[in-house]
Amino acid sequence: MGSARIVVIGTGYVGLTTGACLASLGHQVTCVDVDAVKVARLAAGRVDILEPGLEELVARGLAAGRLTFVVGSRQAVADAEAVFLCVPTPMGAGGGADLRAVEAVIDEIAGSLPPGCAVITKSTVPVGTAQRIRALLGRPDVPVVANPEFLREGTAVADFLNPDRIVVGADDEAAAQWVAGLYADLAAPSVVTDAASAELVKYAANCFLAMKLSYVNAIAELCERLGADIESVTEGMGYDRRIGRSFLKPGPGWGGSCLPKDTHALVQVAESVGFDFSLLSAAIQENIAQRDRIVAKIAGTVGTLAGARIGVLGLAFKAGTSDLRDSPALSVTAMLAAHGAEVTAYDPAVGGELPGMRVVDDPYQTAKGADALVVLTEWDEFRRLDWNYVAELMHGDSVVDTRNLLDPRSVLAAGLSWLGLGRPRAR
Ligand code: UGA
Repeated sequence: MGSARIVVIGTGYVGLTTGACLASLGHQVTCVDVDAVKVARLAAGRVDILEPGLEELVARGLAAGRLTFVVGSRQAVADAEAVFLCVPTPMGAGGGADLRAVEAVIDEIAGSLPPGCAVITKSTVPVGTAQRIRALLGRPDVPVVANPEFLREGTAVADFLNPDRIVVGADDEAAAQWVAGLYADLAAPSVVTDAASAELVKYAANCFLAMKLSYVNAIAELCERLGADIESVTEGMGYDRRIGRSFLKPGPGWGGSCLPKDTHALVQVAESVGFDFSLLSAAIQENIAQRDRIVAKIAGTVGTLAGARIGVLGLAFKAGTSDLRDSPALSVTAMLAAHGAEVTAYDPAVGGELPGMRVVDDPYQTAKGADALVVLTEWDEFRRLDWNYVAELMHGDSVVDTRNLLDPRSVLAAGLSWLGLGRPRAR
């Protein structure tokens, strides 16, 4: 396929990555947002999200004249062959996905879409959304296609350009094949199917990952109680090709803008068709329990949390992003503060003020007078801290490493104690 005229609605990390990457594949892309300030910044090549490679790709698209940014979707779609919906679908009341942003866009563009223009859902939408959009559009001449993204924050550009698979679903097979063709230059297998299956692939995959992590966190807890070492256990499991080595690292719980929202949404979707998805509900419960166990672990090292000074390293939900949405680090720090601890936190990508803690711009400041130091996000720079200096600054000697990130030997060599997850305590 040659170049297609594409409109991308929504310029969050999904929309902007989709737009910039489709432009880099040779398509003519117009990105639309309701936020005029953001649009002006993007048109000037300014990208405000931390996403490696994205700013360069936007600059290249702008320079090549293949990428433009505008406000107002009604006009933008008038000449389009494909419209990608990349607007937020947050968790609504009751755990289901809130589709108001999608509905508002459909309402706005329904009358101006040219005949045959494909309307494509990119953000995660519940099963049945393609059908609902078709009904809302009232345009039998416009195919509706589900084409979920599998981008991870922090590696979104690389994930887009080097995907494991392309999934496209529509009840109009020719439309699905045409959309799959937009990615023809990428070396990835494509699954072309009906709309409901494509929509479900996304949830089934994200929820599987969440369950895998809850399972690993539970196994780490068992390791502690049984005197086993999670590093060896997951290494031994990971060699089994049916299990695989990735997503086997225990942590303070899974978070971010996707896994928590999608797990709740799938439980709710299941409920709506009379199925009690207790396996997935248990994974969600396990994720809450994990945060409680982390707080108890920290409390155990300082005696009582009331009045204790806790230094926190890392606030983002994972390394490589400044995203705090549903970050387990924030739940843990909030619980510490609620128990009366004085929390000082540092994250290389997060600044400003946050409730219940003092945010500092230097990791060593978190150690000053601290009774315990807690690693909550796996930023590489924490590995390279000068532990002798940290030990000098601290009041107590406990380092709680909820990501098993640090080299325990360097922590111990400084006269501190190290406590990881599912690993023997090192003194
Ligand atoms: C996730 C999926 O991985 C993407 O495939 C999907 O496209 C995206 O959601 C989405 O729905 O848009 P993301 O939210 O960026 O991507 O984050 P992940 O990299 O999946 O991490 C999720 C959580 O699991 C984080 O809190 C992370 O710290 C935790 N995690 C991950 C672990 O605790 N251990 C691991 O081994 C891996």
